[in-house]
Amino acid sequence: MKPIPVWMDCDTGTDDAVAIMLAHRLEGIDLKAVSAVCGNTTQQNAYLNTHRICRLMGGRYPVYRGAERPLMKPLHTAAEVHGENGLGDVELPLPEDLATPPEPAWDALYACAKSMPGELRLVPTGPLTNVAIAFIKHPDLPTLLHSVTFMGGSAGPGNVTPAAEFNFYTDPHAAELVLKSGAKLTMCGLDVTLQAYFTPEQLDALAASGTRAGRFVHDCNQRAWKALHKIGQPGFCMHDSCPVMFLAHPELFEGEMAGVAVETRAELTAGKSVTDLYSDKQFPFKNVFVLLKVDRTRFIEILTECILSIG
Ligand code: BDR
Ligand code: CA
Repeated sequence: MKPIPVWMDCDTGTDDAVAIMLAHRLEGIDLKAVSAVCGNTTQQNAYLNTHRICRLMGGRYPVYRGAERPLMKPLHTAAEVHGENGLGDVELPLPEDLATPPEPAWDALYACAKSMPGELRLVPTGPLTNVAIAFIKHPDLPTLLHSVTFMGGSAGPGNVTPAAEFNFYTDPHAAELVLKSGAKLTMCGLDVTLQAYFTPEQLDALAASGTRAGRFVHDCNQRAWKALHKIGQPGFCMHDSCPVMFLAHPELFEGEMAGVAVETRAELTAGKSVTDLYSDKQFPFKNVFVLLKVDRTRFIEILTECILSIG
């Protein structure tokens, strides 16, 4: 079968980095480009980190610069989880021939989608700021894309506040615009991504593999682990690998169509994704396929194979 063309839009922190590695090696995926957005870290760090990961993987992809701040809120990064540099403070070299294409993320994405109408799968793994700007600037983009499969939101509790998931909380206005865009949407929220984790033993095995990629995935997650195991997480969640895996292996996932909206005005629930999945009262629309379950064993097996195959 012809591989699926994919564009990733990442706030390249630790789990975004792993998702890029997965898209690079996963059979059935044809990674076209990566664009950088602020979120886990600054846009500048996310942009440079994406180049660093490309060098580590030996992959050559165009990397585009995107938004330096959310649409309407100040930026609060997640340095306590992803480190000051976004990669768990692991130092990776930049490519020697680092090239910045002149177009911003939103124009380059549009040009790519236009060159293959109905084919390109967009995979945002950070706040949806770049995607929202692209949809505002190019109103026909939602119909030119095949689909948008994003990491963000949660039908249950949040992880940055009791109510909100990080990507939606960081730019709720962008999330709202994308949810209302009419694009074909799949949400990989915390409901499914909290099931997609490496145990500490599995991560140690990656380090012991003797590969640079395995060592990096182990090392860059150590800082996050200190923060996350205190709050009872069973392992290292690979949130951002979920949308990539879903595109090539939908059979590993279960989900449901739902009405999904996001709170942009309230204080306590800012950035909360509100779904009608568990309520008697239904929204008058069903705009999102919400993933709820993943076969963790197969997910981790495939992800591990891909990481180790980088060498
Ligand atoms: C999301 O927030 C970020 O910290 C991760 O990279 C992931 O995209 C999880 O809430
Ligand atoms: Ca991310």
